[in-house]
Amino acid sequence: MSIENCKIIDLQVINDHRGKIAIAESGIQVPFDIKRVYYLFDVPTSAERGGHAHRALQQVLIAVSGSFNVHIDDGYNKRTFNLNHPSKGLSLCPMIWRELDGFSGGSVCLALVSDHYNENDYYRNYEDFKMDIRAR
Ligand code: TYD
Repeated sequence: MSIENCKIIDLQVINDHRGKIAIAESGIQVPFDIKRVYYLFDVPTSAERGGHAHRALQQVLIAVSGSFNVHIDDGYNKRTFNLNHPSKGLSLCPMIWRELDGFSGGSVCLALVSDHYNENDYYRNYEDFKMDIRAR
Protein backbone atom coordinates (compact mmCIF):
# COMPACT_ATOMS: atom_id res chain seq x y z
CA MET A 1 0.00 0.00 0.00
CA SER A 2 2.87 2.40 -0.64
CA ILE A 3 3.78 4.56 -3.59
CA GLU A 4 6.53 2.00 -4.29
CA ASN A 5 3.72 -0.32 -5.44
CA CYS A 6 2.43 2.29 -7.91
CA LYS A 7 4.19 1.68 -11.16
CA ILE A 8 4.16 2.52 -14.83
CA ILE A 9 3.07 -0.51 -16.81
CA ASP A 10 3.69 -1.09 -20.49
CA LEU A 11 0.62 -2.04 -22.48
CA GLN A 12 0.99 -4.44 -25.36
CA VAL A 13 1.29 -2.48 -28.62
CA ILE A 14 0.73 -3.94 -32.06
CA ASN A 15 1.96 -1.74 -34.85
CA ASP A 16 1.49 -2.04 -38.59
CA HIS A 17 1.12 0.34 -41.51
CA ARG A 18 -2.50 1.05 -40.47
CA GLY A 19 -1.50 2.35 -37.06
CA LYS A 20 -1.18 1.01 -33.56
CA ILE A 21 -3.31 -0.90 -31.07
CA ALA A 22 -2.63 -0.77 -27.33
CA ILE A 23 -3.95 -3.69 -25.31
CA ALA A 24 -4.58 -4.04 -21.58
CA GLU A 25 -5.73 -7.42 -20.29
CA SER A 26 -6.57 -8.52 -16.77
CA GLY A 27 -3.89 -10.74 -15.32
CA ILE A 28 -1.39 -9.78 -18.02
CA GLN A 29 -0.64 -6.04 -18.04
CA VAL A 30 -3.34 -5.19 -15.48
CA PRO A 31 -2.84 -6.75 -12.02
CA PHE A 32 -6.57 -7.19 -11.22
CA ASP A 33 -9.83 -8.19 -12.86
CA ILE A 34 -11.30 -5.15 -14.62
CA LYS A 35 -14.90 -4.58 -13.53
CA ARG A 36 -15.39 -1.00 -14.67
CA VAL A 37 -13.98 1.43 -17.20
CA TYR A 38 -14.46 5.19 -17.16
CA TYR A 39 -12.72 8.11 -18.75
CA LEU A 40 -12.27 11.82 -18.25
CA PHE A 41 -12.66 14.01 -21.31
CA ASP A 42 -13.34 17.69 -22.06
CA VAL A 43 -11.23 18.46 -19.01
CA PRO A 44 -10.35 22.17 -18.78
CA THR A 45 -6.56 22.66 -18.70
CA SER A 46 -6.91 24.45 -15.35
CA ALA A 47 -8.95 21.64 -13.76
CA GLU A 48 -7.86 19.51 -10.84
CA ARG A 49 -9.42 16.06 -10.56
CA GLY A 50 -9.06 13.25 -8.08
CA GLY A 51 -8.52 14.62 -4.60
CA HIS A 52 -9.38 11.31 -3.00
CA ALA A 53 -8.11 7.85 -2.08
CA HIS A 54 -9.74 4.43 -2.23
CA ARG A 55 -9.92 1.90 0.55
CA ALA A 56 -9.81 -1.17 -1.72
CA LEU A 57 -10.17 -0.11 -5.34
CA GLN A 58 -7.26 -0.70 -7.68
CA GLN A 59 -6.87 1.32 -10.85
CA VAL A 60 -4.77 1.73 -13.95
CA LEU A 61 -4.81 5.23 -15.45
CA ILE A 62 -3.88 5.75 -19.10
CA ALA A 63 -3.43 8.99 -21.06
CA VAL A 64 -5.08 7.64 -24.20
CA SER A 65 -4.80 11.16 -25.61
CA GLY A 66 -2.72 14.13 -24.50
CA SER A 67 -1.08 14.32 -21.09
CA PHE A 68 -1.65 15.13 -17.44
CA ASN A 69 0.05 14.81 -14.08
CA VAL A 70 -0.87 12.31 -11.38
CA HIS A 71 0.36 13.26 -7.89
CA ILE A 72 0.28 10.29 -5.52
CA ASP A 73 0.69 10.17 -1.76
CA ASP A 74 0.64 7.12 0.53
CA GLY A 75 0.48 9.23 3.69
CA TYR A 76 4.25 9.18 4.09
CA ASN A 77 5.76 9.78 0.68
CA LYS A 78 4.69 11.59 -2.47
CA ARG A 79 5.52 11.22 -6.12
CA THR A 80 4.38 12.78 -9.38
CA PHE A 81 3.98 10.98 -12.70
CA ASN A 82 3.39 12.71 -16.01
CA LEU A 83 1.28 10.40 -18.17
CA ASN A 84 1.77 11.30 -21.79
CA HIS A 85 1.67 8.17 -23.91
CA PRO A 86 -1.22 5.82 -24.80
CA SER A 87 1.00 2.74 -24.43
CA LYS A 88 1.73 3.41 -20.74
CA GLY A 89 -0.50 2.99 -17.70
CA LEU A 90 -0.03 4.01 -14.09
CA SER A 91 -1.07 1.23 -11.74
CA LEU A 92 -2.44 2.50 -8.42
CA CYS A 93 -2.89 0.22 -5.41
CA PRO A 94 -5.44 0.91 -2.64
CA MET A 95 -4.86 3.62 0.01
CA ILE A 96 -3.18 6.10 -2.31
CA TRP A 97 -4.27 9.72 -2.28
CA ARG A 98 -4.22 11.02 -5.87
CA GLU A 99 -4.62 14.40 -7.51
CA LEU A 100 -4.64 14.96 -11.26
CA ASP A 101 -3.79 18.27 -12.93
CA GLY A 102 -1.92 19.80 -15.85
CA PHE A 103 -4.32 18.38 -18.43
CA SER A 104 -3.34 19.22 -21.99
CA GLY A 105 -6.09 20.33 -24.35
CA GLY A 106 -8.13 17.39 -25.63
CA SER A 107 -6.57 14.94 -23.22
CA VAL A 108 -8.42 11.81 -22.19
CA CYS A 109 -7.71 9.88 -18.99
CA LEU A 110 -8.89 6.29 -19.24
CA ALA A 111 -9.32 4.42 -15.95
CA LEU A 112 -9.47 0.62 -15.71
CA VAL A 113 -10.72 -0.27 -12.26
CA SER A 114 -11.18 -3.33 -10.11
CA ASP A 115 -14.73 -2.82 -8.88
CA HIS A 116 -18.05 -1.13 -9.42
CA TYR A 117 -18.60 2.43 -8.25
CA ASN A 118 -19.04 2.61 -4.49
CA GLU A 119 -18.87 5.96 -2.73
CA ASN A 120 -18.16 4.13 0.56
CA ASP A 121 -14.80 3.07 -0.87
CA TYR A 122 -13.66 6.71 -1.12
CA TYR A 123 -11.75 8.87 1.30
CA ARG A 124 -12.75 12.38 0.26
CA ASN A 125 -11.02 14.02 3.20
CA TYR A 126 -7.22 13.97 3.31
CA GLU A 127 -7.04 14.14 7.11
CA ASP A 128 -9.35 11.11 7.46
CA PHE A 129 -7.17 9.23 4.98
CA LYS A 130 -4.00 10.14 6.83
CA MET A 131 -5.48 9.23 10.22
CA ASP A 132 -6.41 5.75 8.96
CA ILE A 133 -2.95 5.30 7.43
CA ARG A 134 -1.27 6.22 10.72
CA ALA A 135 -3.59 3.88 12.64
CA ARG A 136 -2.46 0.88 10.61
P1 TYD B 1 -14.73 11.28 -8.87
O1 TYD B 1 -14.30 9.87 -8.70
O2 TYD B 1 -14.65 12.18 -7.68
O3 TYD B 1 -13.94 11.94 -10.09
P2 TYD B 1 -12.39 12.32 -10.29
O4 TYD B 1 -11.59 11.48 -9.38
O5 TYD B 1 -12.13 12.04 -11.70
O6 TYD B 1 -12.22 13.77 -10.03
O7 TYD B 1 -16.21 11.27 -9.46
C1 TYD B 1 -16.86 12.46 -9.85
C2 TYD B 1 -18.36 12.22 -9.70
O8 TYD B 1 -18.79 11.19 -10.54
C3 TYD B 1 -18.75 11.83 -8.27
O9 TYD B 1 -19.99 12.46 -7.97
C4 TYD B 1 -18.94 10.34 -8.34
C5 TYD B 1 -19.39 10.13 -9.78
N1 TYD B 1 -18.96 8.84 -10.34
C6 TYD B 1 -19.89 7.84 -10.56
O10 TYD B 1 -21.10 8.00 -10.28
N2 TYD B 1 -19.48 6.65 -11.09
C7 TYD B 1 -18.18 6.43 -11.41
O11 TYD B 1 -17.84 5.32 -11.92
C8 TYD B 1 -17.22 7.47 -11.17
C9 TYD B 1 -15.76 7.27 -11.50
C10 TYD B 1 -17.65 8.66 -10.64
